Amino acid sequence: MAPILEVRNLTRQFGKGKETVTAVDSISFAIEPGETVCLVGESGCGKSTTGRMVAGLIEATSGEVIFEGTNIKRLDSAAFRRYRQSVQIIHQDPYSSLNPTQTIRQIITAPLLRHKKVPNKAAAERRALELLEVVDLTPARDVIDKYPHQLSGGQRQRVAVARALTVDPKFIVADEAVSMVDVSIRVSILTMLARLKKEFDVTFLFITHDLALAKYFAWEGRITVMYLGRIVEDGPTPRLIADPRHPYTQALLSAVPEADPELAQHKRQIELRDAEIPSLLALPRGCTFHPRCPYSLPGQCDGAVPPLEPLPEGGRVACPVRMGESIRLLV
Ligand SMILES: Nc1ncnc2c1ncn2[C@@H]1O[C@H](COP(=O)(O)OP(=O)(O)OP(=O)(O)O)[C@@H](O)[C@H]1O
Ligand SMILES: [Mg+2]
Repeated sequence: MAPILEVRNLTRQFGKGKETVTAVDSISFAIEPGETVCLVGESGCGKSTTGRMVAGLIEATSGEVIFEGTNIKRLDSAAFRRYRQSVQIIHQDPYSSLNPTQTIRQIITAPLLRHKKVPNKAAAERRALELLEVVDLTPARDVIDKYPHQLSGGQRQRVAVARALTVDPKFIVADEAVSMVDVSIRVSILTMLARLKKEFDVTFLFITHDLALAKYFAWEGRITVMYLGRIVEDGPTPRLIADPRHPYTQALLSAVPEADPELAQHKRQIELRDAEIPSLLALPRGCTFHPRCPYSLPGQCDGAVPPLEPLPEGGRVACPVRMGESIRLLV
């Protein structure tokens, strides 16, 4: 199947001169229609910058974003507007993305009318009620006249999802979409998003720093692990979780608390040599993980940047030292 989205050598820098940082450094991946891909990694590794380039909110410094077979740089302004509607982004903090002076009715009906998704105000109101029901804000009539501050964090995030759905997106970038929501309602929002995936035929790029969430949301999909702007490993979720190959993925996974005490007892901890993430302004040579990596070899890891190589089991890994080696975290 042809990918719905492909990025090739996508790079984004910020700042000038000596202060220039490469937030995203030549990453390449493709996502098929209907697939769910999770981008994971620690704070500052370039996840949101990637999501914002994919959604057309910021331009790449170099490299390409190809959506439905077309390089977005080649789109004329009308086609670019259609692409911006097709790819919606849901942010971490719905409170800052929802206008506090507007009711939910205004927030949902305005894009429906502006993008001519409905013929008139009455139809916009009907569609708004439908969309609120779709995101489980029921009864919708009780919610539609409220202001964002009158809703809980979880309800606001549902409104943000309903607003994204007004323009019939084909692709949703969910950037830490449940990170600010109470743990108790996270699962219900994730379940709702998973339902939308099927009902609305949308493809998800789900961004999170939390591997446990990635595992839950993208079990049938893939996980892509980023470290300091680069992809260090990706692959089908069950493989990546059961048999992580990059020492950084192993370290992330070993830090995920195990709910089952029996399993927790047997879980292997990966001890990093250094807890600090290096600054983007002073990146280590070669593999940027090598100063923290328990397996790094002088002369091998501090020279050239390791390429992302395909694994026979599926996915890719950028670590020649551990390429062929499995580590069982549960021993
Ligand atoms: N507009 C900007 N101007 C300058 N630097 C930026 C800008 N946006 C991002 N950066 C820098 O780029 C790097 C990557 O940031 P990004 O927001 O993509 O990371 P992230 O993985 O989403 O992190 P988090 O988990 O904290 O959301 C960071 O060092 C950040 O400071
Ligand atoms: Mg972010």
